[in-house]
Amino acid sequence: MRWAWAAVVGGSLFVAAGCADEGAPPPPVQPGDPLPGLDEAALGRFLLGKAVFERLATPDEGLGPLFNADRCSGCHDSPSSGGTSDRVVVKATRWEEDVGRCDLLRAHGGENIQQFATPALVAAGLGPETIPPSANARAAVLAPTLYGLGLVDAIEASEIARRADPDDVDGDGISGRVGRDEEGRPGRFGRKSEVATLERFVDAALRFELGFSTPAHPVEEPINGVPVPPGADPLGEPEIDARGVALLTDYVRFLAPPSPVAPTGAAADTIRLGEDVFGRIGCDACHTPALRTGSHAIPALDRAGVPLYSDLLLHDLGPESAGVCGPGAAPGEHRTSRLWGLRYRSAYLSDGRARTLPDAIRAHGGEGAASRAGFEALDPSDREALLRFLGTR
Ligand code: HEC
Ligand code: HEC
Repeated sequence: MRWAWAAVVGGSLFVAAGCADEGAPPPPVQPGDPLPGLDEAALGRFLLGKAVFERLATPDEGLGPLFNADRCSGCHDSPSSGGTSDRVVVKATRWEEDVGRCDLLRAHGGENIQQFATPALVAAGLGPETIPPSANARAAVLAPTLYGLGLVDAIEASEIARRADPDDVDGDGISGRVGRDEEGRPGRFGRKSEVATLERFVDAALRFELGFSTPAHPVEEPINGVPVPPGADPLGEPEIDARGVALLTDYVRFLAPPSPVAPTGAAADTIRLGEDVFGRIGCDACHTPALRTGSHAIPALDRAGVPLYSDLLLHDLGPESAGVCGPGAAPGEHRTSRLWGLRYRSAYLSDGRARTLPDAIRAHGGEGAASRAGFEALDPSDREALLRFLGTR
């Protein structure tokens, strides 16, 4: 049976009606909240989409035959739905250094090495996937928080591209390149900036994390390159309809970025100093404090400030950060992490190898080496202020 969307929330849709206190400052946005100012129709889609995001799927409903988890919130649930977790996705690629090309190992089942197989697939003698012998890099990728991604989706591509400086013409040691997807379109989602739109990322997450075939891709992924044997996948394709994909996308689209902590008095002065230090030692050369969205039909996403602390560009952080490659990214290149919601993470960097903020900063080599040196040279009070500032995000 396909997921029945109306049944997901018991057929009735409850929309919380906020009673705003005239003149009072808006309450801080908590993790998992929808964007403030959504109308009832959008809020309804957010709630329906959330139910899909959290719903447990079974093989009869489309899960598998290969999968990494049985629901989206299996990896994105901390500190709320749409958040992060300590679950990782295993990826493997082959970087061909001589020609500067990334092989996503499509012929061997793709870069996402699914860790689980349905009983029917196992009974047919296949799965779960193994790392193809031709891979020359592997990575355990941590799930990022999904807060604010509708705002990120609504930024115009030209706003991102104008910050790129691929040949470092301004000579500041920081280049920054626009990521690309496999078709060469400019990317902004994914750690390698390899996906162009939120809708495409949600489609990919359904296919590669849950094993759902979708209206855009109504075929099952092969198992290490071997097609799914007959009988191992009971449900016809696609296993989720266009409405389901659209609701799921709207849930992520309408997730708000959580408000930073806003202390008062002396603590506020320290945070302001920390923000100055962040600019002074050049962290903001990549972690751009804010971008803007273009015009958008949803008022909450229309020409809005996006305080994400990222330029969404790829930067080379040196050989010590080299992992898997992406369609438009060398092994050492990573998309600048968004820093909003940083205080809800307990492990940092794509693979979570840094357990503290100073460790995350010290992992910045390559284009990040100068700001790392700036961090190391800070006097103790400036360093403390910088870390306090980061702790409020
Ligand atoms: C097995 C764990 C896992 C599951 C299940 C999962 N995700 Fe993710 N998600 C990840 C990881 C890991 C990344 C980072 C991948 C990357 O950037 O290469 C990610 C990234 C994302 C992003 C892009 C964020 C960004 O920074 O650009 C979106 C959007 C997303 N997931 C949505 C979903 C949706 C919707 C579902 C359910 C259909 C889902 N995820 C299920 C682990 C998971
Ligand atoms: C040259 C560009 C660049 C500069 C300059 C830079 N960063 Fe980064 N930063 C990145 C990239 C790219 C990543 C993502 C690395 C990864 O995915 O493993 C990152 C990741 C981080 C993270 C981890 C976030 C997370 O969610 O895991 C923190 C914290 C951080 N940077 C803070 C800083 C601070 C503080 C400075 C200044 C001392 C700084 N960065 C300077 C590009 C930069």
